[in-house]
Amino acid sequence: MSTDILLSAQDLSVRFGGVLAVNKVSFEVRRGEVFTLIGPNGAGKTTVFNLISRIYNPTTGSITWHGGEGGAPLALTQQAPHAIAALGIARTFQNIELFEHATVLHNLLIGRHVHRKTGFWSEVFFTQATRRAEIEARETAERVIELLDLQHHRDSMVAGLPYGVRKVVELARALCTEPKLLLLDEPSSGLNVEETADMAFWIQDIQQELGISVLMVEHDMSLVSKVSDRVLAMNQGEVLAMGSPREVQSDPKVVEAYLGTVDDVSSLRRAA
Ligand SMILES: Nc1ncnc2c1ncn2[C@@H]1O[C@H](COP(=O)(O)OP(=O)(O)OP(=O)(O)O)[C@@H](O)[C@H]1O
Ligand SMILES: [Mg+2]
Repeated sequence: MSTDILLSAQDLSVRFGGVLAVNKVSFEVRRGEVFTLIGPNGAGKTTVFNLISRIYNPTTGSITWHGGEGGAPLALTQQAPHAIAALGIARTFQNIELFEHATVLHNLLIGRHVHRKTGFWSEVFFTQATRRAEIEARETAERVIELLDLQHHRDSMVAGLPYGVRKVVELARALCTEPKLLLLDEPSSGLNVEETADMAFWIQDIQQELGISVLMVEHDMSLVSKVSDRVLAMNQGEVLAMGSPREVQSDPKVVEAYLGTVDDVSSLRRAA
């Protein structure tokens, strides 16, 4: 197995009652790339994220993680949900999930807790190891605050922040776990044009400056084209096409799934 692969999904399927939400989907996320899932509403994109996060068990198929020591393969589907973040996989949600009545800094420190390896007794007596972990957590949080330009909001209560800032805070919280793979579910949804442009810069910085691989779900085709190395298009749980952003967006099957008619291909290209 090639070592440039970070995560591979093989023949993934999941059924909810009568609905095959994901149907025999296979793909690989390579180290260092931004890999994007696109597709109309209900295509199964978030469900793929929920399979990787272990929120759902696949009905068939497997997910293999190569992010461990030496890239040795690990069956993700046999891991407990709480173990996923510690392996190096972090995510943001389609609907922001933050502690509303805590400050930005506190939200980031909570995100950091996957790295706390100190035991109960050391916590009780606040030993040196605990103190070191605390300091490391703060240093990481401060670095992320600076990276994402959140200094101004550092001590603000999340509940009082504008939506666009909360999206960045959620991204910051995920980064505080120091992931190898970042799952972003619709990072631009609800953002205006300017905020979307900023989000594109953050994603590029995360990939290029921090070397973190990104698996993203996104509807905004201009953002998709700008930041994605490769794109996978889904419809009704199935893979329609995979390739460069340009290849996938001009694939007639993709155009048809989005717009119902191949004649509209030019408008989709214009959005790119
Ligand atoms: N827990 C669940 N129980 C039953 N059906 C579900 C569940 N989760 C998802 N589904 C169904 O699976 C299908 C795929 O949903 P999913 O949320 O993955 O779509 P999506 O591609 O993320 O769409 P959107 O762009 O609207 O976010 C839909 O038909 C949805 O109703
Ligand atoms: Mg979704």
